[in-house]
Parts: sequence; C-alpha cells; structure tokens
Amino acid sequence: MKVLVTGVAGQLGRELMLKLQSANVAVIGIGRGELDFANPEQVAAGIAEQQADWVVNCGAYTRVDRAEEEPELAFQVNRDSAKAVAEGVKRYGGRLLQVSTDFIFDGNQSHPYQEGDGANPLGVYGQSKWEGEQGVREVLPEAIILRTAWVYGEHGNNFVKTMLRLAAERDELTVVDDQVGTPAWTADIADAILVLIKGDHPGTWHFTNEGVASWYDFAQEIVIMARRLGYPIRVKRVRPIPSADFPTPAARPAYSVLSKQKIRAILGYDIPHWRQSLTAMLKASSR
Ligand SMILES: NC(=O)c1ccc[n+]([C@@H]2O[C@H](COP(=O)([O-])OP(=O)(O)OC[C@H]3O[C@@H](n4cnc5c(N)ncnc54)[C@H](OP(=O)(O)O)[C@@H]3O)[C@@H](O)[C@H]2O)c1
Repeated sequence: MKVLVTGVAGQLGRELMLKLQSANVAVIGIGRGELDFANPEQVAAGIAEQQADWVVNCGAYTRVDRAEEEPELAFQVNRDSAKAVAEGVKRYGGRLLQVSTDFIFDGNQSHPYQEGDGANPLGVYGQSKWEGEQGVREVLPEAIILRTAWVYGEHGNNFVKTMLRLAAERDELTVVDDQVGTPAWTADIADAILVLIKGDHPGTWHFTNEGVASWYDFAQEIVIMARRLGYPIRVKRVRPIPSADFPTPAARPAYSVLSKQKIRAILGYDIPHWRQSLTAMLKASSR
C-alpha cells in the first residue's frame, strides 16, 4: 500500500507521515511547495501523478479568523482543491480520506454531534470545509470523510503550545469557558486514520479523544500537567472568561462535541480520554 499525505508540514500531516513510516507503509508527503492548493486547477493532475493507493488530504486553510478576511483563498484551498484532490484520485481509481472539522456545525446542539446531523457553519472556514466535504462526496461517493476537532500535537502550532508559552511568560491566563468540545491529539487521530484506510471504511466518521472540556478546562489541565512534568511554568492563575470578553473575527460553535459512537465500533481499542493523551503529548514533547 502506498499512501500520499498532503499538508505534510502541518500538525496532522507530519504526525501521520511519521506514523505510517513507523508502520512500514510506503508514504509520500507533499506540501504547499510541491502542490499549491491556491491553484485548484493544477491539483487533480498533481495528485493523479503520484498514483498512490490512498490519498489522505490533511492540507487545508486552517486560519479560522483570517479566513473572514480572505474568503477566496479559504474556498480555493478547502473547497475547490479538496474537490480537485478527489478528481485526481478518481482519474486512476485510487482511494481518498478527506479530513474535515467540527466547525461545520453551529454548536446549538447540547448533545454530541453525530455524522448525519445537519451542518450549519458559522464562518468562512467552516463553510469552506463543509463545501469541500460536499465536493469530495460528489466526485467520490466512496471516499472517507473524517471530522475531527481541537487538534494539537508535537508538530506545528496549536493551543497547547500557545498555553505553554504564555504560562512561562505570564502570571495570569484568561481563557474562554463557554466554548465546549473535545481535544484531539494528532497521534490518536493518525491511529484512527490507519484503521479507517486499512479496513477501507467509506462514509463520514467523527473522531476526537474521549471526554468533554471547555477551552478553560483544557488550559488548566495543560498548566497542571506541564508543571508536574517540569516545564517552566510561571503562571499562578488561569481565569475563566466568557467569549464576549475575547471577541474574534470568526464566530465559533459554543458546543462542538463529536459523537464517537460510530467509530468506536470499528476501532477495536478504547479511545483515550483527552487528559490521558494530553499527558502523553506533554511527556513526548519534553523529551
Ligand atoms: N487545527 C484544528 O484544530 C483542526 C480542527 C478540526 C479539523 N481540522 C482539520 O484537520 C486537518 C489538518 O489540520 P492541521 O491542524 O494539521 O492544520 P495545519 O497544521 O494548519 O496544517 C495544514 C497544512 O495545510 C497546508 N496548506 C495550507 N494552505 C495550503 C496551500 N495553499 N497549498 C498547499 N498546502 C496548504 C499548510 O501548509 P503550510 O505549512 O505551508 O502553511 C499546512 O501544512 C485540516 O483538514 C483541518 O481542517 C483541524
């Protein structure tokens, strides 16, 4: 099996590449330098050229707030190029796993979102990813769409790394406590991707770690665990604030817990709780 991973310089792409390599799977990683998703008309040919058995599309425009200012680019990358990746895969009869997001939901629900629940994105990023999903399904109905959320890992930029940096610099951190979801460690997402592609499970799937947290809960746990593990932590207090006190250009879902009910049945192992995976990530990063 040969796997092509796009977005290889990103958080998930990098982790997946390393995971596949250590599982002795033949893998090619490509990033913006090799194939620029801002030029969707070149993408199908670039993907087809590689003739990979599986393409895992981790490449995406992920700047949620910036997307409000440059919607054209966000749609080129997340909608048009996602569809073009599917078109490229279809040309030679390959298989595709497209990564998507909890931000396709509006967050008005108060119980975990299932795969079939209605989408209603609040911002440009979510809308572009939702239309990307639809384009992929249209071209390749048998594609795998994997939605995840609150992604963090050792590679790239994320909330955990930002909190570690700020906690080393400041006495107090303020973090919103009225947005609720579940963090997902890239290493765990990569494991789930391996199961999905090895078993070839078409359709839409949700995956994050287990449990529920607000960003405040997540930040507090990062500080507690990091201190315990010997990270340089100066912060004395993490204070919860409402989102209204931290306005951002893009609205975010207040509740975006994804149901793992469907994927649990095929994984064959227990999904780790987010606290457990956060600890594992912090331990790995401190080495
Ligand atoms: N981050 C989250 O919290 C989150 C939550 C839910 C779902 N997701 C989804 O998970 C997937 C992986 O996200 P991630 O966290 O790994 O994101 P990431 O770290 O931002 O990585 C995205 C990758 O896409 C590449 N990319 C951006 N614009 C491109 C372009 N014009 N042409 C080619 N490549 C381009 C980036 O390249 P450069 O390195 O050159 O910029 C980067 O390597 C995405 O589908 C994302 O929508 C993420």
